[in-house]
Amino acid sequence: MAKEPMRVLVTGAAGQIGYALVPMIARGIMLGADQPVILHMLDIPPAAEALNGVRMELVDAAFPLLKGVVATTDVVEACTGVNVAVMVGGFPRKEGMERKDVMSKNVSIYKAQASALEAHAAPNCKVLVVANPANTNALILKEFAPSIPEKNVTCLTRLDHNRALGQISERLNVQVSDVKNAVIWGNHSSTQYPDVNHATVKTSSGEKPVRELVADDAWLNGEFITTVQQRGAAIIKARKFSSALSAASSACDHIRDWVLGTPEGTFVSMGVYSDGSYGVPAGLIYSFPVTCSGGEWKIVQGMMLLIFQFLVPCLFVHHLWLICHGQLDGVVSSASFLL
Ligand code: NAD
Ligand code: LMR
Repeated sequence: MAKEPMRVLVTGAAGQIGYALVPMIARGIMLGADQPVILHMLDIPPAAEALNGVRMELVDAAFPLLKGVVATTDVVEACTGVNVAVMVGGFPRKEGMERKDVMSKNVSIYKAQASALEAHAAPNCKVLVVANPANTNALILKEFAPSIPEKNVTCLTRLDHNRALGQISERLNVQVSDVKNAVIWGNHSSTQYPDVNHATVKTSSGEKPVRELVADDAWLNGEFITTVQQRGAAIIKARKFSSALSAASSACDHIRDWVLGTPEGTFVSMGVYSDGSYGVPAGLIYSFPVTCSGGEWKIVQGMMLLIFQFLVPCLFVHHLWLICHGQLDGVVSSASFLL
């Protein structure tokens, strides 16, 4: 029997990531090749004409799974009945900026959209925040939509996770699909800690640890980490725009694994609220290794950590959390120098 369509919201849908993301969703890359979808696309009035152009192209592409399109600048119409919300709308950083530099513009957007999602989304709506600073925007959204279960508010660090797999695959000259179980700890920012201590590569003689195959701790502890941490800036320098196709594809990976489950023996990185695991203060949005099953994520426990390599970002975010429990103005003015 054909499945009921799922409603998927993409905010900032007329932007770069939106333009790459909506055809992926309409093709079933996010929710599966047997899952019909209705796309809800939100943008702001100055982008309304461009948004209508995207809607026209979706019609022209005749996607069999696409059962409807809502293209609107009205946040309530956009949020009504959505099962999945991918929050991309906002301002990207430009060359020479850090992600924290777009904070004051983007946090106010997330406060307003939190209320609309809380009031109008479908029960149990899953939320993925992509816009930067992603962990902070997700935390704001969670704070201003208290009736959305905190486990349903996540942010995108899967792009960093995929970047780590890509770097290992290039270094070892192996297929990226044979590399798994990297972990991104912390923030989607240059303070993140990309960790390959549990990563493996499938070889003809079974799965082998990445550390054993690379056999170059100096590279793994140095250049590998900074390359992943700085990859967003490198893309901006090369393209003059921030990453879009890789961000869109990773957003699909994040939601697909969350909804449909992670493969046996595989974990992925998601920015999720902390339950206190690994000493990360409860309530923060922090990137952990997770497995997913039955539409729920679970933090992988018992991994050995090089604690000091991620303690500093953790303390920064903890400080932010404390500010957040004060008032929003405090977040905007104080957090900008913390992240
Ligand atoms: P873009 O400027 O091309 O598109 C952003 C869109 O958001 C624009 O169409 C804009 O009109 C719209 N917008 C602005 N305010 C809005 C609002 N209040 N409601 C709805 N829409 C609104 O930018 P982009 O390249 O698509 O990037 C979008 C965001 O994603 C940026 O913040 C960027 O830094 C971030 N990003 C995050 C990751 C990640 O891995 N987490 C990766 C890449 C980019
Ligand atoms: C990325 O990682 O590519 C995005 O967060 C965009 C950026 O500002 O780096």
